[in-house]
Amino acid sequence: MIELVAPEEMRSWSRRQRAEGKRVGFVPTMGYLHEAHLRLVDRARKLADVVVMSIFVNPLQFGPGEDFERYPRDLERDRAAAAARGVDCLFVPAVRDLYPEPPVVRVVPGPLADHLCGPRRPGHFEGVLTVVTKLFHLVEPDIAVFGRKDAQQAAIIRRMVEDLNFPVAIHVAPTVREADGLALSSRNTYLNPDERKAAAVLARALQAAHQRFRAGTSDAATLCQVVRDTVAHEPSVRLEYVEAVNPRSMAPVAQASSETLLALAAWVGRTRLIDNIVLGEGIGADEILASGAEERD
Ligand code: PAF
Repeated sequence: MIELVAPEEMRSWSRRQRAEGKRVGFVPTMGYLHEAHLRLVDRARKLADVVVMSIFVNPLQFGPGEDFERYPRDLERDRAAAAARGVDCLFVPAVRDLYPEPPVVRVVPGPLADHLCGPRRPGHFEGVLTVVTKLFHLVEPDIAVFGRKDAQQAAIIRRMVEDLNFPVAIHVAPTVREADGLALSSRNTYLNPDERKAAAVLARALQAAHQRFRAGTSDAATLCQVVRDTVAHEPSVRLEYVEAVNPRSMAPVAQASSETLLALAAWVGRTRLIDNIVLGEGIGADEILASGAEERD
């Protein structure tokens, strides 16, 4: 595995691969890698000839008072995990490499950021789109893979790529979960043992709504209430929002269908977690880490 820091070296490496006829797959991350990141690498490997992973904790997507400073970082461990999973090129620019000056021109997400995390994290998706644009311009990938846990992020990036004609195909890989359903996230590391146990209520709440949907309830307000009622059983968990939305536009729906995304954010102590399901699918056995099953589209 080659490791690059300088943006221009990244671009030259990628161009050399493409000149040799190789398809470049890209997995952008903020590091502190876990199995969900590594499954994105597996997906990229299937779709491309070489895989680039970036590790960059992007200050632009953190608001004032958010966890930019304390976001977990461990480059040595990440380097070993990425190499073991077959990453060909690890791109680890410093903040000064990507932002020699504070960026003045940024990419705005528009109405896809009007719901869910958008209003609760002002500027977050603008920061994500701006850094993803820069990374796409440096890596020039043929395909890029994102995780469905961040469904709103993936939808907004997909829309940016369509609207602005980026020559890259976006793939979204399933959420990976612990045996009790908790979605893998670098931020889970903030949880103390009691919080970690309590956090499993989020997946249980989404599953409870999924069961109600399967039993014939399509009223979105009722399904959201099922989530609220389930989470209320864990007093240490505070639901920030739960919404049923169209998976492409992120606009709320009144009547849920099997493609509806049911998404939530919640605070477990000082840690903010997000999770979601597609109502027609719920949480598949193949998402659960312990089952070790294959990913799917
Ligand atoms: O999902 C993430 O880890 C980040 O938002 C991303 C896409 C790497 C941009 O910083």
